[in-house]
Amino acid sequence: MERRTIGAGALEVGALGLGCMPMSWAYSGSRQRGDESLRAVHRALDSGSSLLDTADMYGPFTNELLVGRALKERRGDAFLSTKVGLLVGDQHIVANGRPGYVKRACDASLRRLQTDVIDLYQLHRADPEVPVEETWGAMAELVRAGKVRALGLCAVGARGGRRSGGLYDGTIRQLRRVQQVFPVSAVEAELSVWSPEALGTLLPWCEARGVGFLAAMPLGNGFLTGTLTPGQGFEPDDMRARHPRFTAEMMAANQPIVAGLRRIAARHGEAVTAAQVALAWVLAQGRHVIPVPGAKRERWVAENAAAAGLRLTPQDLTEVAELPGARGSWE
Ligand SMILES: NC(=O)c1ccc[n+]([C@@H]2O[C@H](COP(=O)([O-])OP(=O)(O)OC[C@H]3O[C@@H](n4cnc5c(N)ncnc54)[C@H](OP(=O)(O)O)[C@@H]3O)[C@@H](O)[C@H]2O)c1
Repeated sequence: MERRTIGAGALEVGALGLGCMPMSWAYSGSRQRGDESLRAVHRALDSGSSLLDTADMYGPFTNELLVGRALKERRGDAFLSTKVGLLVGDQHIVANGRPGYVKRACDASLRRLQTDVIDLYQLHRADPEVPVEETWGAMAELVRAGKVRALGLCAVGARGGRRSGGLYDGTIRQLRRVQQVFPVSAVEAELSVWSPEALGTLLPWCEARGVGFLAAMPLGNGFLTGTLTPGQGFEPDDMRARHPRFTAEMMAANQPIVAGLRRIAARHGEAVTAAQVALAWVLAQGRHVIPVPGAKRERWVAENAAAAGLRLTPQDLTEVAELPGARGSWE
């Protein structure tokens, strides 16, 4: 697989990573597929998808435990990304960016992951009660202590300034602040054919500074693969049960997007899938972009890794740009 370089420390990773979240969190059936998930992680590493993206919050904690089990004998094959700053309560999720907490959370992640260093430690969400410089300062100390190699900031679910069109204005302000304290190596935010907003200002900001961009939800939570049926319904523990784009009505309304991806796939060969076109489109957005498609099935992981070899033509890219915008939004 092609390799890509990110961040001030010139870290090298396979162009396409693996999002480990669906193995333990957010999707139905997540918790019942331990062995299959382990095989999926191994398949990703065998294919050159070295970047494994997890978080202490996924599970909570069980996703890191799973990744730790998978890496026991092959830590050297992986580029390990995990996150800090969110705590799961009974009914809600809260941010905690206090320096003492960040340091304790890192030690706990290292234990669960069965490793002595995390390659990329990401701030999952800034804590509104703590100046972000203080949280970032504690994370920088972890780099100096040799527990972490590089730092990243997540901007998934960013809301600031959306009405004025600047979805990521708040994120960029935050990035400028933390850059004063310690270099940012990567930013993780949503980027996919049906959620292209990061292309506006966030992606160029990262590119200009050599900051890597981890594209979260590159398959539109599975929708862009064309394997979901409008009205199929989702279990209550599946986040799509509450997602406005996954009502029967919106899934039906957004079918032209999937049809467009399928049309492009067909031109590249019988075996090429809509999911692979969706991933190839994300890869085509810049050499600093690393999609992290989530999957817990070995079959999907193999299919997704093969997308790293799919090159979209200028005509393909124009056709994607001309697809209708997605219907259904959180706002
Ligand atoms: N920083 C953050 O705050 C944040 C937020 C959200 C996500 N993320 C990261 O981004 C990663 C990706 O996001 P995501 O997993 O939510 O969404 P996604 O990658 O857009 O889609 C994942 C879904 O697609 C299905 N899938 C994967 N490959 C497929 C294929 N080839 N054909 C058919 N279905 C396929 C998966 O099924 P199975 O599960 O059944 O295999 C899963 O249900 C996460 O794992 C996480 O690491 C980060």
